[in-house]
Amino acid sequence: MTVQLDAAGRLRHLISLRGLDAGQITAVLDRAARLREEQRRGGAAALPPLLAGRTVTNLFFEPSTRTRTSFELAARRLGALVVNFDIAASSTSKGETLEDTLATLEAMGGDAFIVRHKENGTPERLARHARAAAVVNAGDGNHAHPTQGLLDALSIRDRLGTVAGRTVVICGDVRHSRVARSDVDAFGALGAREIRLCGPQALLPDADGFPGCTLHEDFDAALEGAEVIVMLRLQKERMASAMIADEREYTARYGLDPVRLARAAAGAVVLHPGPMNRGIEIADAVADGAQSLVLEQVANGVFVRMAVLATLLDR
Ligand code: NCD
Repeated sequence: MTVQLDAAGRLRHLISLRGLDAGQITAVLDRAARLREEQRRGGAAALPPLLAGRTVTNLFFEPSTRTRTSFELAARRLGALVVNFDIAASSTSKGETLEDTLATLEAMGGDAFIVRHKENGTPERLARHARAAAVVNAGDGNHAHPTQGLLDALSIRDRLGTVAGRTVVICGDVRHSRVARSDVDAFGALGAREIRLCGPQALLPDADGFPGCTLHEDFDAALEGAEVIVMLRLQKERMASAMIADEREYTARYGLDPVRLARAAAGAVVLHPGPMNRGIEIADAVADGAQSLVLEQVANGVFVRMAVLATLLDR
């Protein structure tokens, strides 16, 4: 992924975490933690206006609750103007290409574009087409969701001190998950000891896309010694056909409830990117329990996106 780095090796777009090293990732996490500390001490008004005079445009071609809102909050709190591009009411529906839409919005003064799209590679394509604007991938198909990987890493680091040396289990619909791919990139770069991908055969990915990971169908066995557990949603909108015959059986084998969680290491943390299917992949008692990082993930998402925007736009 060279499009995201400039000639000096600095981040110019954020398309994927693949290929970024621990130093580059840690720099973003540290910056997010510093911004969080400033807000904690002085309120949102104490944040530096790092994006004053800049325009950040949200281009979301797929639904989103957390990601879109947190990019908007992040940009606004650092002083940017935010445009939420209304796709349904736009010329995209008249057949305008995405490249022309981007060129148009950039000509009006757009400095950064936050792109979510169901097709792998769309943010990268737009990054290649942008003149000076930065493109941030907010999730493309099952390819990547880099800010989610970063905010997951920050949430783990906050609670456990480090990602390095940890045994991680990512369970559920790994095949269709861009979150799993970006988590593997982030945790791998930061030195996780072992990453186990777990789910029924039909939802496990080809191992080639997941260097250094092991594949497991038995969740109970995969949980032995796990310190970090990432639960994923069944992404039915990305499945070609019904890949799960019986949801109740899925929950019985792959749902995380307190009994199963007790098999993991003491003090293990549980993450879920949301939206959660409560009662299917995760029980209420786990989602809302002391080991859950779900709301920390959401809160950290805002600071990670601030750090990413500040990094890309303060050239
Ligand atoms: C995820 C996504 O859209 O990739 N949600 C998110 O951004 N937090 C995961 C999902 O939809 O299951």
